[in-house]
Amino acid sequence: RPLLEPVSLPALFTSFGLSIFAFLSTIYLVPALGPAFIKANLKGRDLLKTSDAPIPESLGLVCASVYIMTLLLFIPVAFSETFSKSPGFTREGIVVTEFPLHQLSVYLSAILSLLIATLLGFLDDVFDIRWRHKLPIPIIASIPLLMVYFAEGGNTNVVVPLPLRWLFGPLIHLGPLYYLYMSLLSTFATNSINILAGINGSEVSQAIIIAVSLILNDLLYLPWSMGFRLPIHLLGNDTEIEFGGVWRAGMAYGSKIMVERHLLSLYFMLPLVAVCSGFMYHNWFPARAFPGDTLCYFTGMAFAVVGIQGHFSKTLLLFFLPQIFNFLLSCPQLFGLVPCPRHRVPRFDKDTWLLSPSTAKLERHSQLITIILRLFSALGFVRLTTDATGRITETTNLTILNCILVRLGPMGEKQLVKTLMATQVAGSVLAFVIRYGLARMVFDG
Ligand code: UD1
Ligand code: MG
Repeated sequence: RPLLEPVSLPALFTSFGLSIFAFLSTIYLVPALGPAFIKANLKGRDLLKTSDAPIPESLGLVCASVYIMTLLLFIPVAFSETFSKSPGFTREGIVVTEFPLHQLSVYLSAILSLLIATLLGFLDDVFDIRWRHKLPIPIIASIPLLMVYFAEGGNTNVVVPLPLRWLFGPLIHLGPLYYLYMSLLSTFATNSINILAGINGSEVSQAIIIAVSLILNDLLYLPWSMGFRLPIHLLGNDTEIEFGGVWRAGMAYGSKIMVERHLLSLYFMLPLVAVCSGFMYHNWFPARAFPGDTLCYFTGMAFAVVGIQGHFSKTLLLFFLPQIFNFLLSCPQLFGLVPCPRHRVPRFDKDTWLLSPSTAKLERHSQLITIILRLFSALGFVRLTTDATGRITETTNLTILNCILVRLGPMGEKQLVKTLMATQVAGSVLAFVIRYGLARMVFDG
């Protein structure tokens, strides 16, 4: 197997430089374009403030545009080594001996999926698309990604944890089901951020923390980290299968392809952190701009892109622990078992400016719902109101934000978003522990 190749640092530095430019552009463009968005009727009322002043909405479109432009500008840089190896322009035109067309298709498919996600998000902002209509679109948008994954013979096996090996054997060959899983991942990544929303800074802070976590994870796989003599279990046992890492002379070596995949993820995550940070400045309490669904969709798709193209879709899911919790908690409302109001944001008290859990009224409901809600209540996720007969008449809305308020009591919006961010960071720490600590116990390391 090929040993480590040196990382092309100039490309990484260029990506970093372009990201700074993207950050500055976003910080400048968001307030500059806000009035134009209001004029185009892209505006919303801040539900958790006393003022009725319209706030420009869908500014995620500006972030997405800057982000995609940055990626487009970066594509030639990613291939700079090929350019430098080729004899250059001759009378016959440019001579390229071995162009990594496959690598190019990775970029092009990624950008295609990002564009579709941005378009969908923006359409959702303008037309308020129904859930059942917008759910399948990211699945279709992920087809280019899946084709590229297929073209390179991507892994479709799952390593079975030790305790289950007697039943399934060491590997499960998921085959086409793995493709189904990856396409569902794109829907999950795009929608799960959108349903954990509604307070200033919530959407964009989730995106930043997930992106930074992915960057830290990528750094582990670059050659310098190998120099620290990472024990092999730090790379996860499935490294062997997923990335072709090898263990030689007490050192972990990754193959060239493993480094390439994590570099690709860095090239996509650095500008994402940049545009999101630039936007966060304007979206922080009290928000002067709203992200709209556009931001949720394109950031979610960016995560799906790196998870799929970087071949670490399972690790990616670990960084979505709060979103997974929020989704599971939301299921009864998303699937219509419990009434779902248009907005599930916490209730705002005009006098104290404190937020408390918002509620949904229940009329007739099945025994199943009673069991689920009682279970949620026993776990402390919701607070229920019952009538004299003991029938549930009201529940707090099934979101992580309301859950935090049920557990910790009323608090201000800024405090709540900080608590949410702390939860997301704690989730990422847990993800690293599971991925690199527990993996050793659960898989033979
Ligand atoms: C999702 C949630 C909904 C939540 C909404 C808030 C589900 C199923 N849907 O709906 O419960 O209320 O997001 O984004 O969970 N807003 C604020 N402050 C903010 C951000 C948004 O007040 O910091 C309000 C504004 O009025 C803004 C509106 O939320 O106009 C945007 O809502 P939208 O993104 O259209 O809602 P959904 O994504 O459909
Ligand atoms: Mg939304």
